[in-house]
Amino acid sequence: MNEIVIVKDLNVMFGNFFAVKNLSFSVTKGEIFGFLGSNGAGKTTAIRVLCGLLPATSGDVIIDDVKFIAGAENLVKKKVGYMSQKFTLYNDLTIEENFEFAAKLRNVPGDLYEKRKKQLLKFIDFENDCHQMAANLPGGVKQEIALVAALLHDPQIIFLDEPTAGVAPVARNKFWNLIKQLSAAGKTIFVTTHYMDEAENCHRIALMRSGKLIALDSPSNLKKMTYQRNIYSLTTHNSEARQYLVANAHDLFEMFAPYGLHYHAIIADSLNEQETLDRLKKYCIFQKISPSLEDVFLKLVEGDER
Ligand SMILES: Nc1ncnc2c1ncn2[C@@H]1O[C@H](COP(=O)(O)OP(=O)(O)OP(=O)(O)O)[C@@H](O)[C@H]1O
Ligand SMILES: [Mg+2]
Repeated sequence: MNEIVIVKDLNVMFGNFFAVKNLSFSVTKGEIFGFLGSNGAGKTTAIRVLCGLLPATSGDVIIDDVKFIAGAENLVKKKVGYMSQKFTLYNDLTIEENFEFAAKLRNVPGDLYEKRKKQLLKFIDFENDCHQMAANLPGGVKQEIALVAALLHDPQIIFLDEPTAGVAPVARNKFWNLIKQLSAAGKTIFVTTHYMDEAENCHRIALMRSGKLIALDSPSNLKKMTYQRNIYSLTTHNSEARQYLVANAHDLFEMFAPYGLHYHAIIADSLNEQETLDRLKKYCIFQKISPSLEDVFLKLVEGDER
């Protein structure tokens, strides 16, 4: 099999708290693998272990045929690229200095460094001056430059921890185009995001909750699996109708979540669907919809916590 990442029964504890619990999965070479979950689900912690930056409490991790045992972390660091969630570039260095620093950390020889830097700047379509300070870059460009810095040692697998957080929509699109191109060229991308529209671009998605993996599948299978029952977009006639539905949501719906000016809802299992729809016509209009990943996320990840 072309499995480039294998994780088996991974546990990470801080004191007696499990940040990651019994996590097992594998990632195929060339895959865009999404890691989703609400704040504190354990995504960053798991990534730090996979990058060889944080020791696991127990469990096995194999990255590109290197099994994690004490001392193997250095070997692993050569194989992985990492864009961290909180820190990407040194603001008080120029772009060029950031690149040089990243390349030196990974022992990239000078001639290879120059060649790859050129190729990668072309890849992100950056034609500006590399002697400007990183601090002055717009958010989206800064993330692209950070991606280049993470790719200079030509890693086979790249971990991107919320690479587009706070980035403008157009720049987010461009960044995802880069991700897709990297994947098409055979690189494996392991990415976290809180933007569900972006997650649609992943080949498979792992959903995490409280340190545990709760689902793992392609976006379309996740939707099919999660919603065997019809899902409706519901528009209330007026504010009284809205108040009525909100007040009675618990009895009427299996899922009831605000979605812009509408609600996404599933009629409760215990009720007859058609009868209930007929009864609720005086409060709202219904339109059957295909679920989005946002719906899947709401139901699986946040479902029990609301
Ligand atoms: N070094 C640490 N010491 C103690 N607790 C930690 C440490 N690092 C993370 N945690 C805790 O572990 C849990 C998982 O955190 P983690 O940063 O992995 O979540 P996350 O899924 O990346 O969240 P976010 O979406 O906010 O980035 C949180 O409860 C966090 O407070
Ligand atoms: Mg995180």
